[in-house]
Formats: sequence, structure tokens, C-alpha cells
Amino acid sequence: MKFKSQINQVIKDAFIKANIEHEAMSVSEATKSEFGDFQFNGAMALSKKLGKNPREIATEILNNLDFTGPLAKAEIAGPGFINLWLNPLWIASQCEVAAKDSRLGVGKRETPIKVVVDYSGPNMAKQMHVGHLRSTIIGDTLANLLTFLGDDVIRQNHIGDWGTQFGMLIAYLEETGSDGSSCLKDLEQFYKDAKKRFDEDENFANKAREYVVKIQSGDMHCLNLWQKFIDISLGHCEDVYGKLCVKLTRDDVKAESFYNEDLPQVIEDLIKQNLLKESDGAQCVFLEGEKIPVIVQKSGGGYLYATTDLAALRYRANVLGAKRISYIVDARQAGHFKQVFKVAKESDFVAEDVTLEHVAFGMMMDKSGRPFKTRDGGTVKLTDLLDEAVVKAKAAIKDKENYSQEEIEDLAQIIGIGAVKYADLSINRESNYIFSWDKMLSFEGNTSLYMQYAYARIQSIFRRFDGEIKGDIIIGDALEHRLSVMLLRFEDILNQAAVNAAPNQITTYLYELVTLFMRFYEQNPMLKEGVDEQTKMSRLQLADLTAKTIKQGLDILGIEVVNKL
Ligand code: ARG
Repeated sequence: MKFKSQINQVIKDAFIKANIEHEAMSVSEATKSEFGDFQFNGAMALSKKLGKNPREIATEILNNLDFTGPLAKAEIAGPGFINLWLNPLWIASQCEVAAKDSRLGVGKRETPIKVVVDYSGPNMAKQMHVGHLRSTIIGDTLANLLTFLGDDVIRQNHIGDWGTQFGMLIAYLEETGSDGSSCLKDLEQFYKDAKKRFDEDENFANKAREYVVKIQSGDMHCLNLWQKFIDISLGHCEDVYGKLCVKLTRDDVKAESFYNEDLPQVIEDLIKQNLLKESDGAQCVFLEGEKIPVIVQKSGGGYLYATTDLAALRYRANVLGAKRISYIVDARQAGHFKQVFKVAKESDFVAEDVTLEHVAFGMMMDKSGRPFKTRDGGTVKLTDLLDEAVVKAKAAIKDKENYSQEEIEDLAQIIGIGAVKYADLSINRESNYIFSWDKMLSFEGNTSLYMQYAYARIQSIFRRFDGEIKGDIIIGDALEHRLSVMLLRFEDILNQAAVNAAPNQITTYLYELVTLFMRFYEQNPMLKEGVDEQTKMSRLQLADLTAKTIKQGLDILGIEVVNKL
């Protein structure tokens, strides 16, 4: 059973023994360690309902508490709080179980659900830029997390591969001839050049328009050009995914074009449900309480972003069988998703019991609080940003003489990419955040380097120890007590982060854990002369479990650890 649930169970049992009617109530973490490990505030809430003094209720609960399990001590404080202290022997035994388990004691869901995580979704007409970073790594983290907890996760990369701009791009690809693919090395430039041709040359523009129609009507020549273009562009994305250690593959791609054939049916079905109204020649769904209708078909017959998303929604719910569908998309699309979700439910495209969520995130800003741009005001290409991270990480490596050239390259990769990802994931995702190289590449503070450094330190202890760990964990002082309790919280934290789709709850936890560990490491020596065998073995086990927890936590965030730093 999960850590906190076990404490809640003790409280629940006391309520039953005391014969007090109650609803499910939870303990909370103590605000200060002097007040114990947990606190139960339920007596206050109950006092009105029961017409009793809260201290009286608290006393009754306290008198019925079981002290043979997790709890060692309880005290009533203030108007009727109950402060709870855990039994060090119980904590130690739980940590031992976690240390021996490859999942660190984290249970798998009893009833896994099928979850679609829609993330990254770059536009194939352009190069991936910093705006795609957040969706890509928040989504990947959520997918990793849910997979670890035992859900059946389906990653979906809803790439933008359809629309009028592709007419222009393939016309230009054809014009540049066989070496088109080499021009496509820089998609951004290719797009600009194509656009220039489009704006300058009427013949070219007409051809581009003609090609749009041709792709849509299945003309083989144009479709082949289009396929070639998409392949190359997707290849660029895959380079970025590789650099980012993100698990998206080609199998996860379900492009916008995949839903094309279903779009007329979407319209048909909405008509059958009596949900469509014509407005200025366009087909619209007017939703109650919404000022702006959802346009699903333009007056010329063309479909829209929303139409494709409706088709994707019903595919995911009905064909893939998802019970939770999470969209990791920029907060600026909140209106779109709110509306599309409503239409999907009202039209019965998606059953009532399917959870649809827009996991929104804010923007990446520069130091002066403006949207992140290159010096000349262009969008920052993601590849360039990641390459720069690796260069900067190389400079941050201390004592370079201890490493071979190859080791430095590998280290810089892991540290640099980890820093960019961690900095992003550690922010409350809904806020905008300021991108700062200095802050993210610091060995101090809530950074990946701090976590990687702590991990490497523990590995260096074990390189020096080089023996077999045996014996029990014995909680010797208040610091070891706190560290152990922190280690036991891991499972609860992961579950909470999964519910809230909040990677920063994991990073905040890791930061607290590592901060406690660093204090423990300084104050409680392990391998020093004079430390008795039992204490040494116990401390080594705590260090080992800490390292494993850091590694597992970072792994979920898609960040690697290193053994030496
Ligand atoms: N291509 C979109 C964009 O760049 C993101 C796609 C998000 N997913 C979706 N199903 N709409 O804004």
C-alpha cells in the first residue's frame, strides 16, 4: 500500500474503533519536523458536524490509535491538531523493502488504463523551434511516468503535414530538382526561398495552388513529392528527438493527413446529430455558453484544424480504446481544445467516461521577459539550442584532466541536454519561464547537475567501498529519519504528478530529497575510520536507495545520470 495511505489507514481504524462517523480524510505532511512527520487536522472539520469540541474529538481518536504499526507517538496540539510521529523501526523496514525492489517499492496500477499522450506535433513545413521543446519533453515525461506506473500508454505525434503551404513547398522541391533533399538541410531557408518564389512569380504561385488540389485529389506525382518532403522533414525531427533522448519514433506518428478520409464522415455525423448550422456558407457548431462557434468546414468545402482534431478524438477513443487522452499543447490553444472536447462529447464521438485533458504550458522567455528569439529576431531552431547546451556544458565540467576526450563529449551531452530539459520541467508548466543558461548549468540549486552530482558522489562511495551491503537499516538520528521518510514518499509523489500531469512535482521532490541527502552525507560519514560496521551498512543502504531514487526520477524525466562527475 502507498506510504500515506498506510498512515491514513491507522487514522481510519481509530475512527471506527472510536465509533465516530466520518468521511475519508487524509493526513498531511508536518509543516516542521518538530511537529512530527504528519499532521491530522480532521478533528476541526468534524467538530461542527458533530457539535463537539475539536480537542475532545482529537482525544477520542488519539486514544484509539494503534501504535504497533507505522506510528510511534501522537500528540494533540493547538485547537485540535494531532501531530504524528512515525516509528523508526517501521520506516527502516519499509526502506529495506524499497531498496531490494527493482521498482523501489512503487506499485503498478491494479487497473491500468489506456492513455493517449498527444505531444510534440511539429509542423512539417518548418524546422522545429524552441516552441516545440516544451510539448516534446513534458509529453515524453508524462508518457514515461504513466508507463512506469503501469498504464497502457500510446504516444501520438500529431504532426502538421497537410495544408496549403505544402503545395508551394513541393512545387519548389520539384523546381530545385534532384538535389531538393540537399536544399532541405535547412528547412527554414527552404521555406523562405519557396515563399519568395511564390510571392514573386505568378506562374509558380499558380502551380503551387494547382499542386494543393492535386495532392488532395490523390495525384501520384504530387503525392510522391509530398511524401519525399515529409520524410526529410520528419527525419530532421527525429534528429532532434535523438538529441533530446525523447522516445518518439515513426510508429508514434499519426499525422493530420491520416484523418483526411474521415473528415467528410465527421461532417455527416455532426449533421445527423443536428449539431451543424450554416453561417456565411461555413458549417459551424454553436455551443451553449460559447460566443464563437466551432467552424468545421469552410465555405469552399475545406476542413479545419478542429475538424481533424474531432476525427483524431474519435479514432483515439473508439479505435485505440483510450480512457484518458492528454494533449500537451501550448496554453494559447486552450480555447480550441475546450471547444473541440465539448463537441466530441455532445456528438457522442467520445463516450462520457473518457477523460479529455489539455495539458497546457506557458511560453519560454528570454532574460528580459520577451519571447525567446535569435539576435536578429528570428525563431530559435531547436537543434541550435541543443548544440549550444552541449558546448556550454563542456565548459562547465570541472577538472577536465580527469577525463578522456571521449568521456568529456559524452558527459557534455548528458549534462547539457539534461540541464535544458530539467530547467523546463521544473517550472510549473502553466507559467511562462525565463530561459537562463547560467541558472540551468549550475551545480547548486534545483538543477539536473545538482541531482547528477549527488548521484555521482554516491557512486564514488560505492567504488571506494567495493563490498557487499548486508544488515539492517537503523535510523540513527533525526536527519536519517527525515531522509528515510522522504525516500518513502516517492511513490505518492509519482502518483500525484501523474494525476496532475505535473513534472515539476517530481523535480521539487528530487530537490528536497537531494538537499536532505547532501546534509546527511556531510554529517553522517560512511567509510570514515571509526564508524562501526552496523552504522556504516545502514548508511550505505540509505545512500544506495537515494541514488536509485534519483536515477529512477531522472529516468522518468528522460534525463541520464553519470557515474563520475
Ligand atoms: N501542430 C500543432 C501546432 O504546432 C500541434 C498539434 C497538437 N495536437 C493536436 N491534436 N492538435 O500547434
